[in-house]
Amino acid sequence: MRHQGKVALVTGGSSGIGQAIACRLGREGAKVAIADVAEAGETLALLQESGSEGFAARCDTSDPHQVASFVAQVGERFSPPQILVHSAVVQFVRPFDELSLEDWRRTQAVNQESMFHLLKAAVPGMKARRWGRIIAIASSTFFVGAPAMTHYVTSKGALIGLVHGLAAEVGPFGITINAVAPGLTRTRKAQADLPTELFRQIVALQCIKRNGTPEDQAAVVSFLASEEAGFITGQTILADGGQGRT
Ligand SMILES: NC(=O)c1ccc[n+]([C@@H]2O[C@H](COP(=O)([O-])OP(=O)(O)OC[C@H]3O[C@@H](n4cnc5c(N)ncnc54)[C@H](O)[C@@H]3O)[C@@H](O)[C@H]2O)c1
Repeated sequence: MRHQGKVALVTGGSSGIGQAIACRLGREGAKVAIADVAEAGETLALLQESGSEGFAARCDTSDPHQVASFVAQVGERFSPPQILVHSAVVQFVRPFDELSLEDWRRTQAVNQESMFHLLKAAVPGMKARRWGRIIAIASSTFFVGAPAMTHYVTSKGALIGLVHGLAAEVGPFGITINAVAPGLTRTRKAQADLPTELFRQIVALQCIKRNGTPEDQAAVVSFLASEEAGFITGQTILADGGQGRT
């Protein structure tokens, strides 16, 4: 119960890695608020099953007004969030030659600018309580590249830059900010969208000879969100099974 008494805001918590993070934080005692454009009934049911308290509302995290309103609702319902995890994402494969300005802007707006809005809305509450844990879900593709995903890789690089840049400003208030960069992760959506062969190929490149799971990433986030991780900030944890180090 390492998160007992804490309120966690998880974006993109309706599915995939965000859902695993929400469930893990909830199981470990946090009250969990899920901000997602998709409905979060499944995650709320999982939270309830494990005896955790959850709250969800539709929220497009690229819209500063929706984010401010969501954070205010969390404050009224529970208390201002002290743990913030940004996992919501727009991800699609498109070669740069075919990428429109709209594709580019939407990807940056959801993946990286959302973090700006979330920080503006949530950091004042953390500063007031002199405690906070902020975690941005980036991607190993920032380090290894990914074909036809320049828009996505750029957005993840921006998140890493933001985390590394902001750490010094929030640190004096007892707030840490870190990024987690997952390798290829076997979410339901990834399994449906990506060829089976790709999962096999990536495992061959990893030191750890199995596919990454959403729970692998949730474990890293849970640690970074804990009291014990209070001396780690401005870092990016690459959780990719050691891809490319074989
Ligand atoms: N799955 C992987 O292999 C993998 C690898 C590396 C990094 N990641 C990162 O992990 C995170 C989660 O990825 P996933 O694979 O679980 O994705 P997913 O598609 O399963 O979940 C993403 C969630 O974000 C929500 N979302 C989309 N746009 C939104 C918006 N504007 N506002 C609020 N919510 C919005 C979606 O509704 C969805 O519930 C992402 O940041 C992704 O980049 C995933």
